[in-house]
Amino acid sequence: MAALLEISDLHIWFGAAEVVRGVSLTLEPGEVLGLVGESGSGKSVTSLAILGLLSPSARVEGSIRWKGRELLGLRDAEMRSVRGREIAMVFQEPMTALNPVMRVGKQITEAILAHERMSGREAKQRAIAALEAVAIPEAARRFDDYPHQFSGGQRQRILIAMALVHRPQLLIADEPTTALDVTVQAQVLELLQTLQREFGVAMLFTSHDLAVVGEMAGRIAVMRGGLVLETGACLDVLTKPQHAYTMSLLAAVPTLRTDREKPLAVLL
Ligand SMILES: Nc1ncnc2c1ncn2[C@@H]1O[C@H](COP(=O)(O)OP(=O)(O)OP(=O)(O)O)[C@@H](O)[C@H]1O
Ligand SMILES: [Mg+2]
Repeated sequence: MAALLEISDLHIWFGAAEVVRGVSLTLEPGEVLGLVGESGSGKSVTSLAILGLLSPSARVEGSIRWKGRELLGLRDAEMRSVRGREIAMVFQEPMTALNPVMRVGKQITEAILAHERMSGREAKQRAIAALEAVAIPEAARRFDDYPHQFSGGQRQRILIAMALVHRPQLLIADEPTTALDVTVQAQVLELLQTLQREFGVAMLFTSHDLAVVGEMAGRIAVMRGGLVLETGACLDVLTKPQHAYTMSLLAAVPTLRTDREKPLAVLL
């Protein structure tokens, strides 16, 4: 059976600089793959390549198969039918991903109506339900508020709600909590985990923070300098890292949480 997503020998250049140098990754349905690596290692460009969202100056070679179908070189119209509906994405900066001058409710109903036909009234009901699912208090009353009227954590919840309205099979979450403070970060990660399990959506989760990835992922791929250095089950990578670079990432994990039955606890 074909994997849900299969990236093979992906190369990405900006001018003469080869920033992704032969990356291969696979994701099975419902699986959470954590992509970890330092700033500039190529996590975001890899994520963007999947959705055809790289800037036109990028040159891309290799293969990205989605349910067996090649995504590289897909025409815009075909890509749009995959993007948002089958594969959705949440980014690091919730404020830049939301339109600051459009009411939040309208943004969500537009996202719904981009791929599904229904009345405005139905779409509004769906949007309110989506906001409730991500625990926005008094969702119906706040429907007509603007993005700046929500907190950073709430804005990221709104984007997660938008990403999941079409029940995608894959959610690409590129450093979704990096811009948030630590407490809010933990809440948003927990929400993502709950929704991931509830909907059975596969997730490609990127972070430069191995502790965060260790909380979320079933499997981890470690990237550096445009290469995947090692891939393995979360527990194996955390307890038996094969690469010196992974060891240095582990050594940099500041606090290990002991209060949860999570993989990192086994390190103690
Ligand atoms: N539009 C662009 N034009 C030129 N170079 C780019 C462009 N986008 C990314 N790069 C380069 O590609 C490399 C990989 O960048 P990428 O954003 O994927 O890193 P990252 O792993 O996501 O880092 P971070 O943890 O900081 O988000 C970097 O060297 C970056 O400077
Ligand atoms: Mg990035």
